[in-house]
Amino acid sequence: MDKILKGKAIAVAINQASKALIEEFDLQPKMRLIQVGEDPASSYYVQSIIKNAAKLGCAVELMSLDKDCSQDELLRIIKVANSDPHIQGIMLQKPLPKRFDDSLINISIHPDKDIDALHPLNLGKILIEEDGFLPNTPAAVFYTLKYYRIDPQGKNLVILGRSNVVGKPLANMLLWKKPYANATVTVCHSRTENLKEICQGADILISAIGRAHFVTPDMIKDGVILIDVGINKFTQADGSISYVGDVDYDACYNKASALTPVPGGVGRITTSLLYLNLVRASLIDRKVNKNVDEYIDLVFNAKRKK
Ligand SMILES: NC(=O)c1ccc[n+]([C@@H]2O[C@H](COP(=O)([O-])OP(=O)(O)OC[C@H]3O[C@@H](n4cnc5c(N)ncnc54)[C@H](OP(=O)(O)O)[C@@H]3O)[C@@H](O)[C@H]2O)c1
Repeated sequence: MDKILKGKAIAVAINQASKALIEEFDLQPKMRLIQVGEDPASSYYVQSIIKNAAKLGCAVELMSLDKDCSQDELLRIIKVANSDPHIQGIMLQKPLPKRFDDSLINISIHPDKDIDALHPLNLGKILIEEDGFLPNTPAAVFYTLKYYRIDPQGKNLVILGRSNVVGKPLANMLLWKKPYANATVTVCHSRTENLKEICQGADILISAIGRAHFVTPDMIKDGVILIDVGINKFTQADGSISYVGDVDYDACYNKASALTPVPGGVGRITTSLLYLNLVRASLIDRKVNKNVDEYIDLVFNAKRKK
C-alpha cells in the first residue's frame, strides 16, 4: 500500500469510467448548475466544474442568480429544471444564503436529477443500501479506500464529524454489507466525551470536522490509516495563508501507515464524482439499468496493474 493516499489517480480513473459509460451508451449528459450570488471562491469552483465537464463530454448550463433573489425564485428555477427533458442533473452551488430553507430546497430537486445527493430519498437509499446517487465527499472517501485496497471490514473505524453532507452518510456507507465497508463504525462530534481515547482505538480515523491540525500524534495509534476530509484556512508562522486538513500531517506522518494529503487527497476526487453522478442521472433518464461500480472496478483494476 502507498503511504501517501493521493486523490489524483482516483479522479482520473473515475473520469475514465464516466467517459466509457458516455461513449458506450451515447449519452449527452447536461447539468443545470445554479449559483446564488458571486462569492469569488464559489465562482472559481463553478468555472472549474464547467471547464472539466467539457473535457469529459458533459455540458454544464450555469444559471447565476442575484444574491438578493428570493427563495421562491430559486424554487421556481429548480422546478423548471426538474421538468426540462434536456437537463439530467441539477446542482446547487453551496452554501446558499442563510435566509434560505435548505431542507425545503433539497426536497424540491427531483430525486432522479439530484446529482449532489441532497434529497432525503437519496440519503435514505444509503441507509438501506440501495443503489443510487452518493454524496460526493463521502463517496470520495469510499473510493479512496477501494482504490488503495484498504478494506475496513471488521476494523475499528472512527469518524470525526456528524454533518448531513459528510459524517452521517459516510458512517452509513461504511456499515454496508459489501466489500470496502463492513466496518465497526464510531461517530464522534462536539459533545463526545473521551474523544482522544476513542481515536486512539481507531484502525482507520476519518476526520471531517473543519478544525486545522486537530488530530495530533498523541490521539492516534501506531499504524493507523488517516483519511482527512477537512479543508481549513491556516495562517502560517510567516503570515502566509494556506489550506490544511484536520490532521496535523507532518506530526502524524511517522506514526500513520498511510494518510491522505490536503490538498491533493479526498478533495481532489469530488468533482469527478459529481460528473459520475451526472452520468448516473443520464442512465436513469435513458432507463438503462447499469451498475456504475462495475466500470469503476474495471478501471481501478487496470490502473493498479500498471
Ligand atoms: N474535501 C472535500 O471535498 C470537502 C467537502 C465538504 C466538506 N469538507 C470539509 O470537511 C470539514 C467538515 O465539513 P462539514 O460540512 O461536514 O462541516 P460541519 O457541517 O461544520 O460539521 C462539522 C462536524 O464536526 C463536529 N465538530 C466540530 N468541532 C468539533 C470538535 N472540536 N470535536 C469534535 N467534533 C467537532 C461538529 O459537531 P456537532 O455536530 O456536535 O456540531 C459537526 O458534526 C470542513 O473542513 C469542510 O471544509 C471538505
